[in-house]
Amino acid sequence: MYGQENDATTDDRPIRDRPASEGGDGEGTNRAGGRVGRMTSNDDDRLDTVSIHAGERETNDALVTPIYANATYRYDSPSERGEYRYSRMAAPTRADLEAVVADLEGAAHAKVFASGMAAIDAVFSLLSAGDHVVAGDSLYAETYDLLAEFYPRYGIEVSYVDVTDPEAVREAVGEDTALVYAESPTNPLLRITDLETTAAIAHEADALLAVDNTFASPALQRPVERGADLVVESLTKYLGGHSDAIAGSVATDDDALAERIWRIQYTRGAVVGPFEAFLVRRGIKTLGARMDRHCHNAALLADLLDGHDAVERVHYPGLASHPGHEVAAEQMADFGGMLSFELAGGVEDAVAFVAALETITIAESLGGVESLIEVPAAMTHQNLAPTELDAAGIDPGLVRLSVGIERSEDLVADVERGLDAVTR
Ligand SMILES: Cc1ncc(COP(=O)(O)O)c(C=O)c1O
Repeated sequence: MYGQENDATTDDRPIRDRPASEGGDGEGTNRAGGRVGRMTSNDDDRLDTVSIHAGERETNDALVTPIYANATYRYDSPSERGEYRYSRMAAPTRADLEAVVADLEGAAHAKVFASGMAAIDAVFSLLSAGDHVVAGDSLYAETYDLLAEFYPRYGIEVSYVDVTDPEAVREAVGEDTALVYAESPTNPLLRITDLETTAAIAHEADALLAVDNTFASPALQRPVERGADLVVESLTKYLGGHSDAIAGSVATDDDALAERIWRIQYTRGAVVGPFEAFLVRRGIKTLGARMDRHCHNAALLADLLDGHDAVERVHYPGLASHPGHEVAAEQMADFGGMLSFELAGGVEDAVAFVAALETITIAESLGGVESLIEVPAAMTHQNLAPTELDAAGIDPGLVRLSVGIERSEDLVADVERGLDAVTR
């Protein structure tokens, strides 16, 4: 069969040593990617340099990787061809994005999918019938749906536990546990899981730890360094950063896992297209600068809300009163741009608050340059039943705010406008 030499099952070469067209990371093909190198530790201060230079391809002296809108590539003969073969398997714009995502995560490999959900689905696709998953009890709604509705049909059993409590994880893992799955910080309650401790518990049970790092982004937290086996990002959020593209990634330091993820990627086919890959790659260049400002603005707004009579509770890991504050301070470079809060007047106040805003837009999604606000029970998490919302700790009046990088004073004035609307 043509191309049989590329079959992943018959190829002993580590994935990193293969050209991108064969599922490798294209090492050696990316001029700057090989030179800049991957992030190595939390103290690594090269984020901005890696974000800008890693993985850029040298083509006709173009400064940035172009959009290669190719489905397929020319063979010289049935047994002779260049680096690429067919774009579902590997494609240049995507390969360069995968190189920079891997470097930012401090991982040997990353694969980029059509969405964050496709990336998460790829992680769950590693499972087999009879496997048990220990998942956080506070998850993005569609992740919960995948685990609660789809995977049990294939014989996967899932236990939902408070993964912020290592003892709860230790009690939940058993002989059949193949995967521990956590978000940190979680959507929408910003709960924090101690990644290193949780990785150790998963590994003692011969299970993998997968972390959804979307709320932190690799600018603030690199779970691979804490022992996570798989790291998922919705690239739609902070890495893309401009609310204009949907994409997702899975990163891993493990060659065998990378191989399996790549096979899932090209067989299931939920690959990112070249246009989206280009947009996300462009967004990544300013990740560090944007993240600094997201964090600065979010801390300001968290303080403002926290001290106000109309506000019942603020969920922001940067507040000393947040139950995960110490762990977050230890494992994150900063506390992020996301916060949520409950107003004293519940749903009625939530509706009045968001209606009064002029700069901050009511919309789903997060991590873009513009501030977005939403009510999870009515919007992003609307598919959860009232009992499921309750189990996830999501109050119907909870408000989630993705703090953008607008001028701080304008955001403060807008939040004050919202507070005025609910102050009786
Ligand atoms: C924490 C988290 N993970 C995953 C996703 C899914 O990402 P996408 O919308 O790119 O599929 C989202 C989307 O909001 C999210 O908030």
